[in-house]
Amino acid sequence: MPRQVDGRVALVTGAGSGIGRATALRFGAEGARVVVADIVLQAGEETARLVQDAGGEALAVRVDVTDEDSVRSMVEFTVSRYGRLDCAHNNAGILGPVAEMTEYPRADYDQVISVNVTGVWLCMQAELRQMLTQDPPQGGHSIVNTASVAGLVGSPTIPAYSASKHAVVGMTNSAARGYGKRGIRVNSVCPALVDTPLAQPLFENAESEERMRLRQAVGRFGDVEEIASTVVWLSSGDASFITGTPMRVDGGALA
Ligand SMILES: NC(=O)c1ccc[n+]([C@@H]2O[C@H](COP(=O)([O-])OP(=O)(O)OC[C@H]3O[C@@H](n4cnc5c(N)ncnc54)[C@H](O)[C@@H]3O)[C@@H](O)[C@H]2O)c1
Repeated sequence: MPRQVDGRVALVTGAGSGIGRATALRFGAEGARVVVADIVLQAGEETARLVQDAGGEALAVRVDVTDEDSVRSMVEFTVSRYGRLDCAHNNAGILGPVAEMTEYPRADYDQVISVNVTGVWLCMQAELRQMLTQDPPQGGHSIVNTASVAGLVGSPTIPAYSASKHAVVGMTNSAARGYGKRGIRVNSVCPALVDTPLAQPLFENAESEERMRLRQAVGRFGDVEEIASTVVWLSSGDASFITGTPMRVDGGALA
């Protein structure tokens, strides 16, 4: 069977851990040359090694997605090493504190918005600028942003995170409408709970972990691979008519 993204160049942010690492591995397994970007360079290098160990091609680069120069350098690095940029997964994100709105510290709100909103914005800007200079691959260039089910419904205990993910869905849709006729598809994925370091503060005790498990119709958390396979499929020519879609990958949590 032909591999889904054979020969394409894929960039994944937040790829040193969790969902981003799984997506980098999946891109590599499906034939892409992968740039693994994370604020923790060592973690990114470990992911790149895992991609290579599995027979794929990958390079690591440090990025702070809140820093415009750093983001520009990440895209320049990608193009200087691999010649182009076909698929981007803007996935770096933080949860912020678990606290209701009236108790939420201003500095934490600013930090969540900076990483989750401004970070995705800056990445999309730099990626779109590069993609507009290229001929699109079959099915179009692809950008997939990691939003969340918290970007589709309110989440009273993580209100800044929920606001940030609604913004990710919104800016994804604006980019989809703005660049669709120029060969670029832009989608978001909206996972429910996936057991990664980011989600740990939500599982404060065994009772709440069990309750949270049951919120998904399938009665379990998601696996990082289940998000990764969706992202890589959305990035492939098989998803050529899909753009501006906030794709729920949520085990039926919002069904
Ligand atoms: N885990 C879940 O339940 C869940 C559910 C829905 C959405 N998400 C989203 O998935 C994405 C990935 O989260 P995860 O669960 O894999 O978490 P994770 O903590 O395992 O991974 C996040 C990665 O982002 C990196 N990062 C953080 N700030 C950065 C910055 N400024 N610049 C570059 N990299 C940075 C971290 O170093 C880390 O490697 C996030 O956007 C998160 O909001 C997660």
